[in-house]
Amino acid sequence: MQFQIKVGAPLKHVCQALVLGCFEDDMTQPLIKEVDQLLGGYLRTLYRQREFSGKQNKTRIIHTLGKIPADRIVLVGLGKKRELSTEKIRQGAGAAIQSMRDTGIRSIASLLHLLKEDDEYLQAVVEGAFLGGYAFQQYKSKRDDNGGVDEVNLLFPKKAKPGVREKVVKNAQTLCEAVVLARDLVSQPGNVATPSYLAEKALEMSNMYGIDCKILEKEEIEQNNMAALLAVARGSRQPPRFIILEYLPAGPMLSPTVLVGKGITFDSGGISLKPREGMEKMKDDMAGGAAVIGTLMAAAALRLPVNLVGLVPAAENLPGGEAYKPGDVVRSMSGQTIEIVNTDAEGRMILCDALHYAQRYKPAALIDLATLTGACIVALGSFATGLMGNDEGLKRAVRNAAERCGERVWELPLWDDYGELMKSDIADMKNAGGPEAGTISAAWFLKNFVGKSKWVHLDIAGTAWMDKDRPYAPKGATGVGVRLVVEYLRGVK
Ligand code: BES
Ligand code: MN
Ligand code: ZN
Repeated sequence: MQFQIKVGAPLKHVCQALVLGCFEDDMTQPLIKEVDQLLGGYLRTLYRQREFSGKQNKTRIIHTLGKIPADRIVLVGLGKKRELSTEKIRQGAGAAIQSMRDTGIRSIASLLHLLKEDDEYLQAVVEGAFLGGYAFQQYKSKRDDNGGVDEVNLLFPKKAKPGVREKVVKNAQTLCEAVVLARDLVSQPGNVATPSYLAEKALEMSNMYGIDCKILEKEEIEQNNMAALLAVARGSRQPPRFIILEYLPAGPMLSPTVLVGKGITFDSGGISLKPREGMEKMKDDMAGGAAVIGTLMAAAALRLPVNLVGLVPAAENLPGGEAYKPGDVVRSMSGQTIEIVNTDAEGRMILCDALHYAQRYKPAALIDLATLTGACIVALGSFATGLMGNDEGLKRAVRNAAERCGERVWELPLWDDYGELMKSDIADMKNAGGPEAGTISAAWFLKNFVGKSKWVHLDIAGTAWMDKDRPYAPKGATGVGVRLVVEYLRGVK
């Protein structure tokens, strides 16, 4: 999607569609009044007949029949005037783009960003439009959405200092491209996106953006004693990979932020096989890994002045003849032993070795992202990422970043008491507790491997994939985590 800044009278602009934000409780905006007048009172009639209410994310496309140079006006509801926010603008832009999906409209102009005179809304419009217009069509022989909007003109009545607005737009676009990289990786089917594919894509991306990338293959993973990762990988013909991405622009003296992402390219459950219904969705079990790869891309492309390391343990969880089994005991890289009681609790296995590996960087902060537990979906649905951790300051920083970027997180407690659920008779811990507090017991397990690091765990099981369209996250992979961590990194000194 292309974005351009254009200066001139908004209502004189010739285009296929002009996007106009409307409130449910206020029609006094000068632009609205002017459009209403030019259209002979049509907007007022729509409101009066309750055909358009201005409620958040409601849209309506109207033809202007030559009364305005724009062929159409796309009305998008922004809710109550006093409650307007950056997130509402982002959603409104996404909803507007999605409303045009099957119309054949390719080039539009936006006035949404004019509702506040600062860069935040401009960024939000770009994000909403770019991400709302996303479609993964690689395996469709014929596109099924008429192509979709591919050009957005951002109209301004007045000139500004040259380059300032352009920079905001460019950066927002770059960030969205990184989100799209994550979405594309997650959308790829499991027969394509194997651990080695993930590693290849990470390498390709690294070469483009000047990131150091090292891929550990099976032998090197063995040399590193990552037995928990290897245990999971054993059930599959696909060999595991351990992806290491290093973006260190701030020099060797500054401790990096280390990101760890779960890279299970398909999770059948292994010997503790999952039920057949919905198993196809388990191709998204590398969404944490995809978010890490996307975040590294964004950080490098945006030249964020922070040291950042990304680690992605990647494997496929299948019940092959050599698969790890319930009852097995595995000695993880850290030396701690794990009794396997459920091979479907494989995410924490591969993560525990990666979290231990992360210690060699002496991270200033350690953040992991993982589609870790079904229980997180039970607790929070697809509306928030589960957040747990061992450091108040880091948790607060991530929560604040979440608030700013619209990728919601919600904290669950991580009291020591939960360790009770994970006690093993034979090893240092079990890899799964019972049905209680599944999200927390998983996090408790991970906590044993983070050493003294300040650590936050993000359970994205519910937020990595949408079953229904959201304003700027069409059905499918969301790329969750990229914008959140980038926003966090922007606040790191
Ligand atoms: N990848 C799944 C978690 C998951 C489930 C994500 C559904 C998205 C949708 C994870 O590997 C898993 O299977 N977790 C188990 C843990 C249990 C065996 C302790 C779960 O949540 O059932
Ligand atoms: Mn599993
Ligand atoms: Zn899994």
